[in-house]
Amino acid sequence: MSLDALFEAARQAQARAYAPYSDFKVGAALQGESGAIYAGCNVENAAYPVGTCAEQAAIAALVAAGERRITAILVLGEGRTLVTPCGACRQRIREFGAPHTPVHVAGPDGVRSTFALEDLLPCAFGPDNLARTGPA
Ligand code: THU
Repeated sequence: MSLDALFEAARQAQARAYAPYSDFKVGAALQGESGAIYAGCNVENAAYPVGTCAEQAAIAALVAAGERRITAILVLGEGRTLVTPCGACRQRIREFGAPHTPVHVAGPDGVRSTFALEDLLPCAFGPDNLARTGPA
């Protein structure tokens, strides 16, 4: 997996972000099981809570392409502090990722830190919780 390709896809998406209210553009890129890369950006709204996150858009693109697994994700934000995915997006990544799925956090200068998904969202609720069969 090429981290450079993920970064470049996130960079291009970030450049197209619609963030007139926060002025905080975010790009996300993730890799599916097929090896294909899907990108997304944040899309804000005059009704503030309606805005959507970059990760959310990238996940929608993965699912729309017929994929179901995230093998790696990179989030690219502005500023000097780490732009780790928000709580809701950690849960969204959890749906299609695995405990050790890498979550790369990048700034304009490149990847700054890498986390395992389970470290960002420990003891997560996930699809397995809804399985009705198996051991009690
Ligand atoms: N944002 C994302 O797109 N992803 C994140 O992980 C953190 C926050 C967006 C939402 C909003 O448009 C802007 O960044 C400021 O919160």
